[in-house]
Amino acid sequence: MLYKRMPIEKESPEEIGYSNIRYNLSESSVTDIKMGELNLQLNDLKLEYIGHRGKPELRRLIVKDCCNLNKENVLLTNGAAGALFIINSSLLTVNDHLIVVRPNYATNIEVPRTIGCSISFIDLQFEEAWKLDPQKIEAAIQPNTKLISITSPHNPTGMLISEEEINEIIRIAELHNIYLLIDETYRDTCFKTPYPITATKSKKVICVSSLSKAYGLPGLRMGWLITQDETIMERFLAAKEMICISNSALDEEVAYQFYLEKEKFAITINQKAMMNFHLLKEWLQKETRMEAVLPQGGVVCFSRFKEDLNIDTAKFYSLLMNKYQTMVGPGHWFEMPDSCMRIGFGWTDDLVFKKGLENISAAIEESLK
Ligand SMILES: Cc1ncc(COP(=O)(O)O)c(C=O)c1O
Repeated sequence: MLYKRMPIEKESPEEIGYSNIRYNLSESSVTDIKMGELNLQLNDLKLEYIGHRGKPELRRLIVKDCCNLNKENVLLTNGAAGALFIINSSLLTVNDHLIVVRPNYATNIEVPRTIGCSISFIDLQFEEAWKLDPQKIEAAIQPNTKLISITSPHNPTGMLISEEEINEIIRIAELHNIYLLIDETYRDTCFKTPYPITATKSKKVICVSSLSKAYGLPGLRMGWLITQDETIMERFLAAKEMICISNSALDEEVAYQFYLEKEKFAITINQKAMMNFHLLKEWLQKETRMEAVLPQGGVVCFSRFKEDLNIDTAKFYSLLMNKYQTMVGPGHWFEMPDSCMRIGFGWTDDLVFKKGLENISAAIEESLK
């Protein structure tokens, strides 16, 4: 496959260097956790090859609240990104058709594009509060449609698909015998998703999540996919074995010990994110040159300049970064115009976040034509 780097990764804060960004509002996760905060017992851990599906105790914990799922339905992967790669590359060929939502986390679009399958995009609209209309998915189905790919809670908009809509999309997928990928990487973030892991609902659903976004452990690279379909699970396992045999024994053990206590961490993490969310709402009320649909999930808000704002967008981003040392996620990371920007409110403390928002206002002021 002819891989091409994605702007969201090429321009990511970790590639630019965290120390070069003082006000980092570009992140889509909560604050990263340090090893020392985790109180881990690792001395007895043997650094051997481990079971290819992943640590059974962790897989069991991930689905412990889902009565019709068990550890055999879970495959641990190298982050949610690893799961998305395995699913897309296992299910799609050049002869297949995919229906995918846009904007989206780039991997959900770029992996299928690299595979070379044909793609129908369901373009979400600001004016429709970024809502996904299940009927648009049904209308896009073709005889060779193999996969429908949606993300909820959604990145970059924070839109949450309601349970009723999820059920309707599952009905459509089942009726047409199409797999449905639901990227749920943000389901445990501060707003909570008010329905169970969606793979509980149907054999057609494959869902994906990880410890990166809601818990601040992206450096672990620990994610998973869940499906009730044993046949495709076998294929996903084959793909994983070809890529990496198994995950790292160390990552899985750290993830397991963290998972046992994750609720304890979640309280502080979520309080902090909600405090920043209130600051964001206050700022949006004052900053009349911007508009946004408030998120219902995740820790990001996809805001934009008002349409009639006469602004030099390139100058805005240049000033924001170079003069104000502030970073947001520009629209082009999501195949959208740069008049849109993703503001992450989960990663920084409140003082940094507030100053970052003020810096956005200052950069707008200085970029008006
Ligand atoms: C919707 C979505 N899915 C998956 C990922 C990948 O996350 P991970 O760190 O678990 O690989 C991201 C990262 O930004 C994301 O936004």
